[in-house]
Amino acid sequence: MDRKFVLTGLGYAILGLVLGLFMAATKNHQQLVTHAHIMLVGFVISMVYAMMHKLWLTEAAAKLAKVQYVLHQLGTAGMSIGLFLLYGNLAPESVVGPILGIFSVLVLIAMLLMKVMYLKSAKAQS
Ligand code: HEM
Ligand code: HEM
Repeated sequence: MDRKFVLTGLGYAILGLVLGLFMAATKNHQQLVTHAHIMLVGFVISMVYAMMHKLWLTEAAAKLAKVQYVLHQLGTAGMSIGLFLLYGNLAPESVVGPILGIFSVLVLIAMLLMKVMYLKSAKAQS
């Protein structure tokens, strides 16, 4: 799982940096919120999850690990696309808003699951 998170995290890093460079080059910072969340939710949080797998998570968390990974990826992808559409004025807020809400909740659930996985692993080791 750690390598899976590293790979997808680096994917988001490349995507977010391209968007950042594009904003800088065009002097149009309209997509700043999209760039910030692709970098922080897609890249930084994925790398933190990768390190948690490498450092602390054990077999005790294995059952939940796949679900947690999928939820974080689904949430991040939906959030990134939704923010891009919203801040690019490509879709109305009344449509994108609720969709963004759903994908944001997936990111939150993945974070809650990570805490459960951490606690399970810690308990199994003590
Ligand atoms: C090639 C490298 C990068 C470029 C060209 C770039 C470009 C930009 C630009 C043009 C803005 C908008 C600034 C503004 O209008 O206030 C911005 C904001 C931001 N960037 Fe980047 N960025 C880069 C790398 C990164 C990285 C590595 C991260 C984090 C891991 C990051 C996180 C952010 C955040 C959080 C904001 C929002 C800051 C705020 O709220 O004012 N960026 N970036
Ligand atoms: C998953 C649910 C999340 C939701 C619903 C959310 C929502 C928001 C909203 C509404 C803003 C204000 C945007 C604006 O300026 O109009 C914002 C800004 C920001 N968020 Fe998030 N966020 C989430 C996750 C995160 C996470 C996990 C991080 C960091 C690891 C983060 C970092 C930031 C930063 C640095 C800003 C200020 C830069 C900006 O204006 O884009 N967010 N977020």
